[in-house]
Amino acid sequence: MVEGREVETLEHIRETPRGERIVTALARGGGVQCGFCTPGIAVALEALLRENPKPDETEIRDGLSGNLCRCTGYQQIVEGVLEHALDHGTDSL
Ligand code: FES
Repeated sequence: MVEGREVETLEHIRETPRGERIVTALARGGGVQCGFCTPGIAVALEALLRENPKPDETEIRDGLSGNLCRCTGYQQIVEGVLEHALDHGTDSL
């Protein structure tokens, strides 16, 4: 299914400025509890912030709508993103 396509891993994403902010947002915001959903959440946030560097709360929740988190209720994730992950003009990707 991926033949001829580019595959971007979480390991690569977390090494970018935006990826570092996403990891910080999840960690400092309390958006990681058991951690089961965290890789998918991080990749979904990367896709969201790549298209929309300054999403509002509704847009963040929409961007995460395909990901299930049984622990956080999403509030800590959303608050962490709003506080730590938004682009302030430092992204080069
Ligand atoms: S942190 Fe446990 S499912 Fe999200």
